[in-house]
Amino acid sequence: RALSSAASDVYKRQILCCTFYFKIEMKYIVVLLICLMWGGSLSAQQNLSALVPMPNHVEKQKGKAFVVTDKTWIVIRNASLRFEAEELQRMLEVQMGLRLNIQIGAVKGKHIYLISNSQNEILEHYRLRVNSKKLEISAESSKGIFYGIQTLAQLLLGDAENTAHHRVTPVLIEDSPRFAFRGLMLDVARHFLPVSDVKRFIDLMASFKYNVLQLHLTDDQGWRIEIKQYPQLTKIGAFRNKKGSDQGPDNGYYTQEQLKDLIAYAAQRHVEIIPELDIPGHTAAVLAVFPEMLCQSLNTVPVQIGKTTDVMMCASNEHCYKIYQNILTEVAGLFPSRSIHLGGDEAVIEKNWGKCSSCQVLKEKLGYQKSSDLMNYFFGKILSIVRKLKKEPILWCELNNIWMPADSYLFNYPKDVTLVSWRAGLTPLCQELTQKNGNSLIMAPGEYAYLDYPQYKNDLPEYNNWGMPITTLEKTYQFDPAYGDEFSEKHIRGVLGTLWSEAIKDFNRVTYMTYPRGLALAEAGWTQMEHRTWSSFKQRICPNLYKMMKDGISFRVPFEIFSSYVCN
Ligand code: ACM
Ligand code: ZN
Repeated sequence: RALSSAASDVYKRQILCCTFYFKIEMKYIVVLLICLMWGGSLSAQQNLSALVPMPNHVEKQKGKAFVVTDKTWIVIRNASLRFEAEELQRMLEVQMGLRLNIQIGAVKGKHIYLISNSQNEILEHYRLRVNSKKLEISAESSKGIFYGIQTLAQLLLGDAENTAHHRVTPVLIEDSPRFAFRGLMLDVARHFLPVSDVKRFIDLMASFKYNVLQLHLTDDQGWRIEIKQYPQLTKIGAFRNKKGSDQGPDNGYYTQEQLKDLIAYAAQRHVEIIPELDIPGHTAAVLAVFPEMLCQSLNTVPVQIGKTTDVMMCASNEHCYKIYQNILTEVAGLFPSRSIHLGGDEAVIEKNWGKCSSCQVLKEKLGYQKSSDLMNYFFGKILSIVRKLKKEPILWCELNNIWMPADSYLFNYPKDVTLVSWRAGLTPLCQELTQKNGNSLIMAPGEYAYLDYPQYKNDLPEYNNWGMPITTLEKTYQFDPAYGDEFSEKHIRGVLGTLWSEAIKDFNRVTYMTYPRGLALAEAGWTQMEHRTWSSFKQRICPNLYKMMKDGISFRVPFEIFSSYVCN
């Protein structure tokens, strides 16, 4: 259907403005613009055309539209929904150009109602009802209301012409997510991101109903969290580049005050921040500060932050447990999240514990066969610290060489550890073993959810710093977090997209690598398989990409998925 000339003028003007602001390759811009205009003519009048993730129950309704005027109020019963009401107010001002008043109390009339029936923040369900008399979002929690507002924002975004005339098309949406855990991970250790950038990242992810941000805070290249008891951790560990800026990309850290502010900012947008402190490998930054934590019999060359890799904390060294007891106590006090992620990945065991005389003595004493068995001892001690701090541990699921030798099916992870499946090819095994053993599982399989992998052949090859496989948007969209096994779904907490930042140095690169694949992962986490189709998804992302462009957010233009409409 053709757009009315007024609406198409608005479209064209906005698109023309956008081209001045972004340095995305011109060829891609042209393709995108054609797509958007084409997509616009296909779907701009449809209120369902920009929904990402797709809600799980949508009923089109007959009847006249709800008309918003400057006399329409946003009504809440009490101040507990003030933030959500203000979000809605901001969104309507941007999308319709009307700034509505917020009213608290029992108001009747043709208004917009936000109604939260209880304060049970675990419940994410919402109900969005639009008819000519009323626009109402109801939920059991402010989180549900927040998600209803995000859905309304997308209804308006897709329905450009009606929105321009302040009309909201009737609809009934009853929605709740497939998975409770819908996360993205930012690696701020390899390259640091200032707080303001992390906040922008949170704004964007929350609009697609993500609810977890994992911050990878420590690695070989940097220690990014202030620990009051050990100021040298950041004084030394956060500055690998003596000549670089203090605020990234090589240097920088978050003070505890900044983290409190960031955590509160995220919580308002219903995003929980999970801290990750990766041990016992990926620890060059902390080992440069505390060389006494190294395997002493190997400790001949000084550790250099960002240059030294493959070093580990010594399993037999009491300093490690003492120092981490103190670090974890501060971390647990700072982050309200019920979880702490402790890494546990890619430990180079033979090179460290295998050659350390005191680790070998400990191995014999414990009756272990292999040096890798010392992982049980190491994490046994660390996990007991975490349990005493009343936190739930998360670890990367390692099956190939560390916890479980290739020739056996020993699975030694304690049951209270939530595991994250990540290694390409190993997810089905990880799924089977966690289900048998009773561990919860988060899905971040390399095949689908690694956002540092290149997105297309020859696309910015500098990102492919170690020859990682191409993960196209279409491939990511094919991700079913249950891997087709609905019976195992109960022990799967959800989805995590990981953005490792060895080659990602600023916010534009962060969002470029995250989006649009982050839209596909958002839908994998939220939407039941029966409501997901690639053909519908690739149309629904168009208005959202257009909005990102307008908002100055860099993303990769997925020109390959539009070529069948435009080029053939
Ligand atoms: C990982 O990618 N090393 C978890
Ligand atoms: Zn040792």
